[in-house]
Amino acid sequence: MSFIERQKNRNLIQERGIEMIKIGLLGFGTVGTGVYEIINNTENNLRRLLNKEIQVSKILVRDMNKNRNVDAPKDIFTKNPLDILENPEIDIVVEVMGGIDDAYKYICLAFKNNKHVVTANKAVVSKYIDTFLQLSNKYNKGFLFEASVGGGIPIIKPLKQSARINNISNVRGILNGTTNFILTKMCDENLSFNEALDMAKKLGYAEADPTDDIEGYDVKRKLAILSSIAFNNKTDVDSIMCRGISSISKDDINMFKKLGLVSKLVGSAISNGNNYSASVEPVLLNESSTFTTVKDAFNIVSITGDVIGELQFYGQGAGKNPTANAVVSDIFDIVTDQYKRDDFVQNGNLISTGIDLFEGRYYIRVSPDNKSDMSKVLKLMDLDKLKYEILSMNENLIVITDVVRADRIEQFISKLNMLKEEYCYMRIEEDIINLKYEAK
Ligand code: NAP
Ligand code: HSE
Repeated sequence: MSFIERQKNRNLIQERGIEMIKIGLLGFGTVGTGVYEIINNTENNLRRLLNKEIQVSKILVRDMNKNRNVDAPKDIFTKNPLDILENPEIDIVVEVMGGIDDAYKYICLAFKNNKHVVTANKAVVSKYIDTFLQLSNKYNKGFLFEASVGGGIPIIKPLKQSARINNISNVRGILNGTTNFILTKMCDENLSFNEALDMAKKLGYAEADPTDDIEGYDVKRKLAILSSIAFNNKTDVDSIMCRGISSISKDDINMFKKLGLVSKLVGSAISNGNNYSASVEPVLLNESSTFTTVKDAFNIVSITGDVIGELQFYGQGAGKNPTANAVVSDIFDIVTDQYKRDDFVQNGNLISTGIDLFEGRYYIRVSPDNKSDMSKVLKLMDLDKLKYEILSMNENLIVITDVVRADRIEQFISKLNMLKEEYCYMRIEEDIINLKYEAK
């Protein structure tokens, strides 16, 4: 439907007394344009279901002259955030611009001006989830952030529901579309890291600064949000141990194939009731595990509760339509009053996470210049009393350790850093009974 047709429809609707809900969009990039398109293309559905009309009436951008390939009238764009945040006609502010400082300021101001807030921005939610929940309660307005984790997968709402009944012991997931896409392309199609990253950027999966994806910061933020809900206390995002995928080489991927293993960037948060451990790191999974079947930009989240057992959620984890779908779903929940300000109230403690609850066998590859440097690495492992099996001592030194706690491996790695060798290490997450490769 063109803009003029939509406008005619709206005039008719107003004459018939249908309630008009006005949205202010902060940002009009990948997600913002998707939200705008869904709202305008599904307006007949909304009217039938809700007897209400939703209209995007203002859009904040940085560059008013950018060609956006979307049929939106020029006069709804603005560079002034107050045109939205202080506009008495706007009911819901949808923050899809990213970043932390401006997003924080604008969300706080939106609440103070009595507006509901929907956001897809995990960076700002992970840092200020407690402040936003307090403001949402204080001003009696909705605060929903379904799109901030898992793209199109409904995970925040079911996790809140599960956490009401269950003691959650474990939240674990492939939570970043870009890195899962890169690893899939490197592994299945032999693409280089940079070729795969360029594709992910073009497809709208990557963050404005893709370092956030590659180094695991994006997953760390998503995991902090999930863990805050699961454990009902804000998780200190900065305490989460975090490593990305940049150290994984083609040699590693070839070796994983020989071993019948697949590497995935996984975020895990676990609790034994007293302690919390959380990590974001590339791990090795069995070829036949459910997580291994999650390819390209798809995500998976698994949660374990004492009543429900394990639940898994799977779907598209990034990109315009899936993410915009999650944002619009939150908008619907607000418009239909199907949100509750008080269904998710945190206890007010800050959870700081360690890594001592993780353990497993580790794959360690070190690429020294010569055999004598390889011996130095092995000596270091012996000194640290690590037990291991040598898989290769050709171009690379590759070993698999016995089961060991994560904190002990990190101690070893900090010593390895002093030798200034290139290396890669990963926990083998599942019980690999028979490694396919014959040790040499
Ligand atoms: P994007 O394509 O880079 O779009 C960002 C938009 O926000 C642009 O329109 C930009 O304006 C505007 N903007 C940014 N900073 C601004 C500021 N300070 N003041 C005014 N306007 C500003 O980003 P995106 O991919 O849509 O992501 C938006 C948010 O959703 C981020 O928080 C991201 O983490 C999250 N998210 C993204 C995905 C995804 O798959 N892309 C999935 C889930 C969540 P200009 O256009 O004028 O530059
Ligand atoms: N850059 C993010 C990703 C977007 O690749 O998963 C979705 O949050």
